[in-house]
Amino acid sequence: MSTPLRIGIAGLGTVGLGVIDILRTHATTIAMRAGRPVEITAISARSRRDRGIDLSAYAFEADPADLATRDDVDLVVEVIGGENGPAKETVEAALASGKHVVTANKALMARHGTALAALAERHGACLRYEAGVAGGIPVVKALTEGLAANAVTRVMGVMNGTCNYILTKMEATGEDYSDVLTEAQALGYAEADPAFDVGGMDAAQKLALLTIAAFGTHVDIDAVKVEGIEQVTLTDIRYARDLGYRIKLLGVARSGDGAVEVRMQPCLVPAQSPIGQLESVVNMVVIEGDFVGQTVFQGPGAGAGPTGSAVVADIIDIARDIRVPTFGVPVADLREYPTTTAGSPATYYLRLTLEDRPGMLAKVAAALGQHGISINQMRQTEHEGGSAPVLIVTHACLRQDLDKALDEITGQSMCQDTPVAYRIETV
Ligand SMILES: NC(=O)c1ccc[n+]([C@@H]2O[C@H](COP(=O)([O-])OP(=O)(O)OC[C@H]3O[C@@H](n4cnc5c(N)ncnc54)[C@H](OP(=O)(O)O)[C@@H]3O)[C@@H](O)[C@H]2O)c1
Repeated sequence: MSTPLRIGIAGLGTVGLGVIDILRTHATTIAMRAGRPVEITAISARSRRDRGIDLSAYAFEADPADLATRDDVDLVVEVIGGENGPAKETVEAALASGKHVVTANKALMARHGTALAALAERHGACLRYEAGVAGGIPVVKALTEGLAANAVTRVMGVMNGTCNYILTKMEATGEDYSDVLTEAQALGYAEADPAFDVGGMDAAQKLALLTIAAFGTHVDIDAVKVEGIEQVTLTDIRYARDLGYRIKLLGVARSGDGAVEVRMQPCLVPAQSPIGQLESVVNMVVIEGDFVGQTVFQGPGAGAGPTGSAVVADIIDIARDIRVPTFGVPVADLREYPTTTAGSPATYYLRLTLEDRPGMLAKVAAALGQHGISINQMRQTEHEGGSAPVLIVTHACLRQDLDKALDEITGQSMCQDTPVAYRIETV
């Protein structure tokens, strides 16, 4: 029998217990696929409380950094969470000892991923994070292996199940954002403090990781444009639908002109596109390559089973001795392109609440025209008291030009409300 790969698991929450369940349930199959047994030897958590399964066969370490340096651990699974603190200390201790690391921690990887990958390279260890991006969907593997023949042209994704649940439920039931958020919390889809999800940062961290792997560039997570779904109204969801679109919290990354453009924001996408048809908590990632064209990956983005599945797949690769650099290329080969928020040209959906008096539409058209923005479609919806809601779809323009025109429209008091503007992403 070949030498077992010995696993230490730091964190016994949702994901940690999911990993243990899979390693036990499929021990024989995993050993065959990996070419060697995969055995858990040690575990760590804050407390030794009963977790509903027998963990007595494994050594327990109160400090996960001690687990990371045990002689009987070859690979550390970090499923504690958090971008610093014990998670980072554990991963650094493991890599510095030449032990492999598999993590589900997007916050840690988005902030410190390239430094940790460099540490792994210096010590001849593997660092993998498939579970940190879109849960059970093998999208890091797709980028770094399956699509490695291509120059990636664009990566897009709906990577936060909570947000997609809220937006699709609002559309289906006509309920407001706050009511659906409360329901999502009751169902366990949203955290008690949902800011990280609905504010877009959870999905932005995943997008940052995909961007590094897709374009071979460093990404400054603080420079990523992040906008959440808190301001998305039922009114805009319905108007977008009438125009043939749906609103999604969409992450988009592309590279060009010596910069990498990374944005996480609510966008309109064609209702009939794969992303437009995505319902509920499901995630989707679209990768476009110069030779392959468009590829679409869909699946569960969270939960013990899907996330554990991705962790164990990384473990099996390491057990097979498959050595892929963390981000597809060695850290020294990652380019230093700046991370930019300047969006490429796009068409925009605008909703303006104009004063209901003659000549207002002409003034709006003139303000847009002065900044080089032409109108593709304009619709005036039913009047509400003294206001006239107007929907505009522009031809392709730059966001900075649009913002100048909207400032002018607001400055001249043509609008009764703050104008609403969403990018329409071609999918
Ligand atoms: N849940 C998902 O569906 C999902 C999906 C994708 C990625 N992830 C990522 O996976 C990671 C884990 O998530 P989770 O949902 O499993 O979290 P969780 O349920 O909160 O579990 C965290 C575990 O870490 C342990 N822990 C916390 N501080 C520790 C310390 N100082 N020393 C030792 N152990 C410590 C906790 O111990 P106690 O139990 O004793 O408190 C707990 O067992 C996070 O990075 C998360 O972003 C999760």
